[in-house]
Amino acid sequence: MSKSFYITTPIYYVNAEPHIGSAYTSVACDVMARFKRMDGYQVMFLSGTDEYGQKVEQAAAKNGMDPQAFTDKLSQKFRDVLAFMNVSNDDFIRTTEDRHKTACQALWKRLEESGNIYLGKYAGWYAMRDEAYYGVDELRDGPNGKKIAPSGAECEWVEEPSYFFKLSDWGDKLLKFYDENPDFIMPQSRRNEVISFVKSGMHDLSISRTALRWGVPVPDAPGHVMYVWLDALTNYLTALGFPDQNAEKFKTFWPADVHMVGKDIVRFHAVYWPAFLMAAGLQPPKRVYAHGWWTNEGQKISKSLGNVIDPYALVNTYGLDQTRYFLMREVPFGNDGDFSHDAMIRRTNSELANDLGNLAQRSLSMINKNCNATVPSNARMADTDHALLRDADNALQTARDLFERQAFSKALDAIWEVIGNANRYVDEQAPWGLKKTDPERMQAVLYTLAECLRRLALIIWPFMPDSMDKLLDQLNVPASNKTLAAVTAANCQLVPGTALPVPTGIFPRYAPAETAAQ
Ligand code: MSP
Repeated sequence: MSKSFYITTPIYYVNAEPHIGSAYTSVACDVMARFKRMDGYQVMFLSGTDEYGQKVEQAAAKNGMDPQAFTDKLSQKFRDVLAFMNVSNDDFIRTTEDRHKTACQALWKRLEESGNIYLGKYAGWYAMRDEAYYGVDELRDGPNGKKIAPSGAECEWVEEPSYFFKLSDWGDKLLKFYDENPDFIMPQSRRNEVISFVKSGMHDLSISRTALRWGVPVPDAPGHVMYVWLDALTNYLTALGFPDQNAEKFKTFWPADVHMVGKDIVRFHAVYWPAFLMAAGLQPPKRVYAHGWWTNEGQKISKSLGNVIDPYALVNTYGLDQTRYFLMREVPFGNDGDFSHDAMIRRTNSELANDLGNLAQRSLSMINKNCNATVPSNARMADTDHALLRDADNALQTARDLFERQAFSKALDAIWEVIGNANRYVDEQAPWGLKKTDPERMQAVLYTLAECLRRLALIIWPFMPDSMDKLLDQLNVPASNKTLAAVTAANCQLVPGTALPVPTGIFPRYAPAETAAQ
């Protein structure tokens, strides 16, 4: 059996249009999924939409639409934006699907049968924006006597009959689980936050609502629909065929390797979710990774401020791979980050067009002109050449290690260090000068550059698949050799004499019309 890897995005609320936040999580998961596939893993990559709950019900009503028709429309937009961002998810789940209802109700039954659910009455605070319950000690007073959650969401007082999950029984077991699995919550700062929350004492959790209809019906309990987070979290099981634990996908992929989430939804994934799973006799996921939030030119992103970043606008302005690269490079993954057009332009022009684009363009053009448009001879390779190729090989190992910790920007740093070395190598070796004095040596230098580009393109591929396909095509690398094993495999190296197509630029400089003329 091959190695398997299961990664998930959060499922996105369909109360609003897709924006940079959802695109960010999706691209990060995509980069991870592509890296693992290329490294020989059998990958299951899941994304989807979270369609039930009060927030979506109200958004539908505001739009004068029936909730199902509303969610059909919005869910499609999320599917479209994934395709547009070149995200390679293997499945797309909608919580209004029948398979999901089956999974949720089966999980509920298990929780009930194991004695973890009881009927009671909820009286407390609820923030619809977060679809979350809050203890009074977590809230502050806002204007007009409103109570405000730590997230800034307004809370309302709710009193209704409700089923409860006995979360209070799970505090010690959760702490033991975190202790035994130090990498379960990453980064470390989030882990500390979760542990102190759990240590502060767990209260039972209300897991059904009677105030709304738009949800998965609780089995044998007319009037109750499931609390949207219980239903939403279950999506990660639904997609594997749960409740059939003999389903091939379930056996291959559960427990999930990484649930990628934003920092705002760690509590649901790192506290409630493992508690539900353990209570149902299922294994918790191996990791919950919480990334940071983007601001826009220093400001919090919000619909009311009108500064939401539209992924379509970004891609149409700067290019798809440029946007994917920026999102993964600009911020150490896990930290908050700021989007600015200046930073976007700087990265596009200096790191993509100059550092990598020029390296490829000048190497391939010299090969095209001086080596008969074929892979040059490697007969006269010297130590410096081998040293450069070793740098590229080392970058692969470094990237592999960093990917194990979702340290995407650090992996790019390591790769760009090699690109820097390669650019210095071109300047030092000056192959244009060798053309007359030592043509065989020129061939070896150009071979080294082409081979270095091949190795780098493979390692960069998960971040920017279209552009790297273009580069690999210019090196005539067959699709079967587009793997990470091929980076270091002797029999995958470029073969001197192989015909190469005419090179074309991969990364155009960003030059808006008004500045291009200057
Ligand atoms: N539906 C829940 C998730 C259920 S998963 C079982 C949800 N949906 S959401 O659409 O509101 O948010 C989805 C993701 O987008 C979250 O991980 C959130 O952190 C992320 N982002 C929303 N705005 C963001 C930024 N400004 N920056 C980065 N990510 C942000 O929560």
